[in-house]
Amino acid sequence: MKVLGIESSCDETGVALVETADAGVPILRAHALHSQVQLHEAYGGVVPELASRDHIRRVLPLTAQVLEQAGCTLRDVDVVAYTRGPGLAGALLVGAGVACALAAALGLPTLGVHHLEGHLLSPFLSADPPEFPFVALLVSGGHTQLMRVQCVGDYELLGETIDDAAGEAFDKSAKLLGLGYPGGPALAALAAQGDPAAYALPRPLLHSGDLDFSFAGLKTAVLTQVRRLGDAPTDTQRANLAASTQAAIVEVLVKKSLAALKTTGLARLVVSGGVGANRELRRQLDAACARRRVRVHYPELALCTDNGAMIALAAAMRLQAGRSRATPDYGFAVRPRWPLQDIG
Ligand code: KG4
Ligand code: ZN
Repeated sequence: MKVLGIESSCDETGVALVETADAGVPILRAHALHSQVQLHEAYGGVVPELASRDHIRRVLPLTAQVLEQAGCTLRDVDVVAYTRGPGLAGALLVGAGVACALAAALGLPTLGVHHLEGHLLSPFLSADPPEFPFVALLVSGGHTQLMRVQCVGDYELLGETIDDAAGEAFDKSAKLLGLGYPGGPALAALAAQGDPAAYALPRPLLHSGDLDFSFAGLKTAVLTQVRRLGDAPTDTQRANLAASTQAAIVEVLVKKSLAALKTTGLARLVVSGGVGANRELRRQLDAACARRRVRVHYPELALCTDNGAMIALAAAMRLQAGRSRATPDYGFAVRPRWPLQDIG
């Protein structure tokens, strides 16, 4: 079975084709991505209307590119999957609309996929795929969650952020430091040259005894330091503040992940979402997990941030597991707000 997947929930248009074998993880045949980072850069964040218009421009050429790379045509596709939510309503409607129009024209079934389930399952496409069950640390621009994952579709929320997401903390701190959008990778690059112990920044909820996160206070603490540094901070001061900010975020993510492993008694951790690309987070998680004989899995770096491969994969895995049925439903009802626990 060949599944075409379309992702358009935010500022990346992603298309991919995966193929399921009888058993085992589906195989990624081809994927293509267009990032809108340059389009939104001047505005310091994603402009929803511009995002939707750009998805419209990109999605069909990317689909043609993926099919060509995979050596297929639309006639070879069995199911058309798309991101149903959560995300920007207008942006989601583009992917959903195109997916449903293609499927209707070809007489194919469709399947709307949860974006976070895509992230969560994306490490299955890596060279070292996980096995169920595991603890998932989902760290993206909009979400920070710890979950107990029993199998495809069985996700128990253990804890989540009560305010900003980890990616948001990176992005907002980066903005305060005068770095571009999206700030996560830029802040991480600057942090590599700084001293993580230079500034004492808060580790919110570190000792709260639960598995929730809070990052809004950190952003305020970074703002206070930026103001103290005045109009002309030195390169060293900026690098030190970036390193200290990253250290605060990473420490909380690592400690809470270890607490989740302890609470659940599981010995496997799966990290996904854009912040999962952060090298310092990976370094510290690898070290902490090795000491505890816990296996840790990540998506390939290229599949950490939004992409079509994870959407095609999640659809294929749900179909394989009998969790979903692809149906000739062309209503493209998107769900901009959609808690992951609500899916079965
Ligand atoms: O998963 P994603 O592509 O989009 C959402 O679903 O939100 O995650 C994007 C987030 C952004 O906040 C971005 O700054 C962050 O992931 N990010 C990083 C890194 N690469 C991306 N944060 C820290 N270090 C990185 N290397
Ligand atoms: Zn995402």
